[in-house]
Amino acid sequence: MWAGEEEYLMQNATQVPVVHSVSFGYKDVNQWQQVALGKQKGHIYSRNTNPTVEVFENKICQLENAQAATSASTGMGIISSTLFALLVPGQRVVSVKDTYGGTNKIFTEFLPRFKVEVTLCNTTDHEAIEAEIERGCNLLYLETPTNPTIKIIDLTRLAKVGKKNGAVVVVDNTFATPINQQPLALGADLDNALAKLK
Ligand SMILES: Cc1ncc(COP(=O)(O)O)c(C=O)c1O
Repeated sequence: MWAGEEEYLMQNATQVPVVHSVSFGYKDVNQWQQVALGKQKGHIYSRNTNPTVEVFENKICQLENAQAATSASTGMGIISSTLFALLVPGQRVVSVKDTYGGTNKIFTEFLPRFKVEVTLCNTTDHEAIEAEIERGCNLLYLETPTNPTIKIIDLTRLAKVGKKNGAVVVVDNTFATPINQQPLALGADLDNALAKLK
């Protein structure tokens, strides 16, 4: 897809260059500060933002019709940082039994260590998932189709119940890809997630 990369294509190159630089320098400290404060476009340190990664994130925004995107070097990196950034002890996650193995491990082994309650429902039992959301749910986590069991969840139906009950709705869209399914259009939403989860 041709989107997000135009300003990075150099001398008629058709591919975005891979920028290896970790840090970015400026003429003087004032210019650096403008960039650091987000008042001027640019990059400071590649772990935060990097020109190549920015192109990827811009493309994801276009494909998913999102306001903003962030990324990590692996799927589990972004799933675990999403869950650990949003959840605090005492909160409750509702999800399904068929999530990807690494995600399931976070739900069954890691989040409980941080006193986050996780309830995993039978994946296609929408009534049971709705009932658990209504019992109290800070974050509803869905994956559809599931890997590797290829079970299908009605995102629109469950996201609606999640939102009605004040939950942040997170979706792993790996198998479908945005070509086939756009979770944001179906009700997934991280907008104001931190405010909602306070
Ligand atoms: C549905 C799903 N979610 C998450 C992941 C994890 O992605 P990664 O292997 O990049 O950490 C995978 C990997 O296959 C996956 O299929």
